[in-house]
Amino acid sequence: MSRQFKKLEKCYETCRSLTDFVPRVGLILGSGLGGYARNMKIIKEIPYGEIPGFPVSTVEGHDGRFLFGYIGKVPAVVMKGRVHYYEGYSMEDVVLPIRLMKRMGIEILFLTNASGGINRSFQVGDFMLITDQISSFVPSPLVGENVSELGERFPDMTHIYDAGLQDVIRSTAEAEDIRLREGVYLQTTGPNFESPAEIRMYAVLGADAVGMSTACEAIAARHAGLRVCGISCVSNMASGISEEELSHLDVQAVADRRSEEFERLVTRSIEKM
Ligand code: HPA
Repeated sequence: MSRQFKKLEKCYETCRSLTDFVPRVGLILGSGLGGYARNMKIIKEIPYGEIPGFPVSTVEGHDGRFLFGYIGKVPAVVMKGRVHYYEGYSMEDVVLPIRLMKRMGIEILFLTNASGGINRSFQVGDFMLITDQISSFVPSPLVGENVSELGERFPDMTHIYDAGLQDVIRSTAEAEDIRLREGVYLQTTGPNFESPAEIRMYAVLGADAVGMSTACEAIAARHAGLRVCGISCVSNMASGISEEELSHLDVQAVADRRSEEFERLVTRSIEKM
C-alpha cells in the first residue's frame, strides 16, 4: 500500500469512526457559499482539524469542515472550505479531500468557485457552467507514485465535466430563471492575481474564467472515476479586462451578494442528480 493511500485510509477510518453516513454527492463550496448549510439537513459535522493528517485551510473566510446530510433527498457531503495549492500544501494534500469523499461513498463531485471573468461577454456576478478546463499552469495532482487503489496511471481527460450533469444544471438554471454562462476554467497557482498580459495570453488559449482552485480537484476526481460538474461565480472581471484593481475582499463581497441564487442553482441541481 502506498504512503499516500495509507494516509488516506487513516483519514477514512477517522471519519468512519465519527459517522456511518454514506454520501452520494460531494459538494465543494467556494467563496461566498459559506452559508450553504441552511440548505441541508445536517446529520454530522466533522471539522477538518479533527482528522489527523487532513490539510487545514489558512485563508481567512474559509472555515474548514465536512457537513454530512441531505440536500433534498440526496445524501451528500459538503466541504465548507477547501485548501489551495498557494497555501503551501502539496497537490497530493490539496486533493486528499476529494479522495476521502470518494472513499466515504460519493459518486458525483460538484465543484464551485469564484473566478475572474476573461470572456468579455461575461458580467460580474454571472454564473459559468464549467464545460472544460486548462490546468497546464499548475502541477498535476497525479504526479508521483500512482495510487492504483484509486485509479490508473494515465487517466483520460477527454470528458472531465460530465455531459449528463451539465444538462441537469442547464435545465435547472432555465427552470429557475437564472442566467447561466458556459466556458473553460483555467487554474493558476495564485495567490497573486494575474497581470493583464497573462490574462491576454489565457484568452488566446481559450480560457473564459480564471481562478486558483478546482481544476486539480477535477483531475483527481476523474482519476478516481467520479462524475464531475462545476459552476463558477464570476466575482470580478480579470485583470486588464476591467480597469479596476482586484482584491480578495471584493471577490468575497460579490460572491456573497450572489449567494442566494448560487445556492438555489446548486441545490435544485443536486436534487435532480
Ligand atoms: N483571478 C484568479 N482567481 C480569482 C479571480 C481572479 O481574477 N477572481 C476570483 N478568483
